[in-house]
Amino acid sequence: MNLTETLTEFASDVIEGLSSHPKHLSSKYFYDHRGSMIFKDIMQMPEYYLTDCEFEIFNNHKAEIASKIYPDKSYFELIELGAGDGFKTIVLLNFLVQQNVKFQYIPIDISAKAIENLQLNLTKSLPNLFVKYKTGDYFKLIAGLNGTAPKLVLFLGSNIGNLTENESLSFLRQLRNVLNRGDKLLIGFDLKKDPEIILKAYNDPHGHTAAFNLNLLHRINTELDANFNTDNFYHEETYDPQTGTATSFLISKKEQTVRINRTNSIFHFTANEKISMEISQKYDEAMINYFAENSGFAVERNFSDSRSWFIDSLWKVV
Ligand code: AVJ
Repeated sequence: MNLTETLTEFASDVIEGLSSHPKHLSSKYFYDHRGSMIFKDIMQMPEYYLTDCEFEIFNNHKAEIASKIYPDKSYFELIELGAGDGFKTIVLLNFLVQQNVKFQYIPIDISAKAIENLQLNLTKSLPNLFVKYKTGDYFKLIAGLNGTAPKLVLFLGSNIGNLTENESLSFLRQLRNVLNRGDKLLIGFDLKKDPEIILKAYNDPHGHTAAFNLNLLHRINTELDANFNTDNFYHEETYDPQTGTATSFLISKKEQTVRINRTNSIFHFTANEKISMEISQKYDEAMINYFAENSGFAVERNFSDSRSWFIDSLWKVV
């Protein structure tokens, strides 16, 4: 996809979202350069427990995870979707290298910047690792990997949580369709828990999550020549324990009008009007089984942290 096409898709998604009632924008556009840096701050704050949980799971269960993914010690491809800076994955990579396991690591990210940073980290920390860096569309890239080596796909961090139930099923089915029988998926799910803990992770006292959301307005300003005044919006987080859905909103502090010059459009906001920005779904084991069973996978084993706040679920293509 070239730059003009990306811009057009971004522009049309923004226009569609701001013309809807209620207004919405897509969190998939959070990760420009600035957004990716803010997300790093989010992952480092103590309130964002997800990273710590998964880091603990990888540290405590790396031997079991490793023994499950290469029972016969045959060569395999370790593909990571949305690899980011690789902070958690390095624990597993390190262990596999120490055990002399034969594999190739294939991190895929939509952000070229993220892949660049990962490359810097990995050439320093694991200079002998065999890595193929990829940027672009997950499914096209996996389908394009030639050869018959078994695959393990990592989709960590509860990244699936930004998708609705239907989007999740369609994502998992598409993934299933570019894999072969016996291939595996290690997928992270953040679990339902005390609503206070969840709300604190997304309604943080440092203001990082607010900045993360407001950055999308900033991105619209720079890329689509708009005039959002970010001071005129504030961030709010809700969590519904029944459904397990956490939702991020930006709320207009007053009645205002915003121009997007690139698309020649004007949007009106009433005082207290909300823009829905992101969902971060929380799961339970029944939901995890439901997703696996309805997308062509079988759950092989669940790995959890000591507090049972998070699950990395190992699935096998059936
Ligand atoms: C990267 C999608 C897992 O929803 O928890 C963090 C993104 N948003 N804080 C999440 C995010 C606000 C994060 N995921």
